[in-house]
Amino acid sequence: MFFRQSITRRQTLHLGLAALAGMGACAQKQSGKLVDQDNQAQLSTSFTIEGESSLKERAAAKGLIYGAAGSYSALSSNPEFAAKFAQECAMLVPENSLKWLTLRPSREQFNFNQGDWLAQFADRHDMLFRGHTLVWNQSLPQWFQNNVNKGNAESLMREHLQVVMKHYAGKVHSWDVVNEAIFPQHGRADGLRLTPWLQTLGPNYIDLAFEIAAEMDPQAMLVYNDTRMAHDTPENESRRTNVLKLLERLKSRGVPVHALGLQAHLWGWGKVPFLEPKRMRAFLHEVAQLELKILVTELDVADNQLPADPQIRDRLVAGAYEDYLSVVLDEPAVIAVLTWGLSDQYTWRSKWPRGDGNPVRPLPLDAQMNRKLAWNAIARAFDHTRAR
Ligand code: G3I
Repeated sequence: MFFRQSITRRQTLHLGLAALAGMGACAQKQSGKLVDQDNQAQLSTSFTIEGESSLKERAAAKGLIYGAAGSYSALSSNPEFAAKFAQECAMLVPENSLKWLTLRPSREQFNFNQGDWLAQFADRHDMLFRGHTLVWNQSLPQWFQNNVNKGNAESLMREHLQVVMKHYAGKVHSWDVVNEAIFPQHGRADGLRLTPWLQTLGPNYIDLAFEIAAEMDPQAMLVYNDTRMAHDTPENESRRTNVLKLLERLKSRGVPVHALGLQAHLWGWGKVPFLEPKRMRAFLHEVAQLELKILVTELDVADNQLPADPQIRDRLVAGAYEDYLSVVLDEPAVIAVLTWGLSDQYTWRSKWPRGDGNPVRPLPLDAQMNRKLAWNAIARAFDHTRAR
């Protein structure tokens, strides 16, 4: 009895999920069949929510923004998905349409068709619009990779930011100016990733990108966005340390960086441990102390190695959402939560399919556009957080 009274709600959830995870592992071994029917009771005991209001409404009630990444192809071809998107989201992030690869078939040509369609879609539905992403090592067209050198890299960067940011100036809430610049595995003391930008312009390419960005769209929030900072692994720890050092360095030089984007592509509960809540809060507090806002920019939860039973899987995924958000939202500097997609029908995670052939279920809505436990978990995290 004493034990029951003294554990927190989150600990209760952990205990329940630990039992389910164990059961799931067992179930997996037995060809995906649920072996312990008694545990079925636990499948319906949590993630309860009150009311039917949307994620954007629940977030807004606390002074937060909820939104998602959406692709041009999905939103322009599936009216049911588009309607759900508008119902749930207060912000749209083009998943791929503002990357170099889509925007620039050649150095001379810019193709804004997809980006403009998405910007208009956002506008039509009173959604904020986010820019993703300007300076990254991926999604660079072949012509760029073939031609970039020390002599032209700065002008290529300037020209790109000038044309693209000016095209959308005044319409963009925030831009991911530099994406994924830290990669400790490359062995540099500063943790920087070896990219064409680093190799041509040196480490100050990051300063340069933010300085140019501030010139091109003075209204947009300028974000440094990076991945893998949620879990308790040496690699994640090293990234947190290096990201913090990078942000400190940028701020100390007066570089106009306004926010940190935490991508948050998470592992389903039980796969890799989350960073202990106290340490996560301390990390976020250090970021906030630099007078930076924080956005959760690409949240989703991998379920490709979780048990086959969708009920168990959905609970483990929802548990990860709730665990992560309930800690991260304790930091008042966090202003937005964006999932990387909205429906399981459209997710980059399907590129890493499950061994059993079942479709992945990493997002708030299922492939038929119904709300899942992950949706409940996000809703609960908004409902339970303090107002900004
Ligand atoms: O559009 C082409 C299509 O015409 C072609 O038939 C098809 C063949 O493979 O490829 C399509 O393009 C793919 C595109 O996704 C649209 O599906 C690209 O090959 C593929 O590389 C691209 O992957 C995207 C990836 O970033 C690389 O840009 C994912 O959709 C997108 O979810 C992912 O998002 C990244 C963020 O930008 C940064 N953080 C990590 C996150 C997940 O990797």
